[in-house]
Amino acid sequence: MAKDRYAVMGDPIAHSKSPRIHSRFAEQTAQHLEYRAIRVEPGRFAEAVAEFRDQGGRGLNVTVPFKQDAWVLADELGPQAERAGAVNTLLFRSDGSAYGDNTDGLGLVRDLTVNHGFPIRNKRVLLLGAGGATRGVLHPLLGCEPGEVLIANRTASKARELAMLFSDQGNLFGCGLDELAGHQPFDLIINATAAGLDDRIPELPEGILAREGWCYDLMYGDRPTAFVRWGQTHGAARSLDGLGMLVEQAAESFRIWRGIRPETREVIEALGEG
Ligand code: ATR
Repeated sequence: MAKDRYAVMGDPIAHSKSPRIHSRFAEQTAQHLEYRAIRVEPGRFAEAVAEFRDQGGRGLNVTVPFKQDAWVLADELGPQAERAGAVNTLLFRSDGSAYGDNTDGLGLVRDLTVNHGFPIRNKRVLLLGAGGATRGVLHPLLGCEPGEVLIANRTASKARELAMLFSDQGNLFGCGLDELAGHQPFDLIINATAAGLDDRIPELPEGILAREGWCYDLMYGDRPTAFVRWGQTHGAARSLDGLGMLVEQAAESFRIWRGIRPETREVIEALGEG
């Protein structure tokens, strides 16, 4: 019997860990499927999706820079994708329709709360960045009822707009990175900026992280990211990268496609070992 086909599309995609993660999930749950990485050139996303569907593709993960294109392409949106304006999971149904959802935020929340035992409820959270990554995680994060979430961005207006957009879902504010000085310390600082791509982090004022506060970088790497290192040198109780989130968002995508949620712990451990 031919295997059901899945893939991740993005650019760049060569270093994606998703094929490894989903192969392990498939083995673990005895699901008959194949999963590969497909590099798609900018502007060719819809075409590449159509081609993949023609070849019998059943579902896709979508990563940078196509999450917004995937949102537009979906015929029906899941609860997490609606306001995020970004889709990372597409399911192609037998009636020809495409269902899109965003599992990034659930992945983050699950890694923090279940894998690491950080209780988000009533905590003061600082979210750095106001791009696609931030949009993707806001809904599930606010669902955990933090005491306050402040979005701080290099371009202040984008942070304020995003805070307005989600303001009915919690105690949420936006400001510029340069307005952070003087704020009360935060229990959790999440880096969702793209600054780490150049191994940098946004400049942060002294005392912004609470004693015993935690740091979480949505990015991950083979060695500690710039933001993880910042946490380590600024007294963070834990300073985590986004590897756990990556595996958790993948598990949630797998559940959308196959109706079964794989175990993540052994996969996170295996990936962490390289
Ligand atoms: P993504 O989908 O990864 O979030 P994006 O939508 O391009 O990517 O957003 C990138 C985010 O990182 C933005 O919040 C950006 O700030 P601006 O809105 O001011 O552009 C932020 N960012 C990128 N490089 C940065 C840097 N060197 N310092 C601080 N913030 C940076």
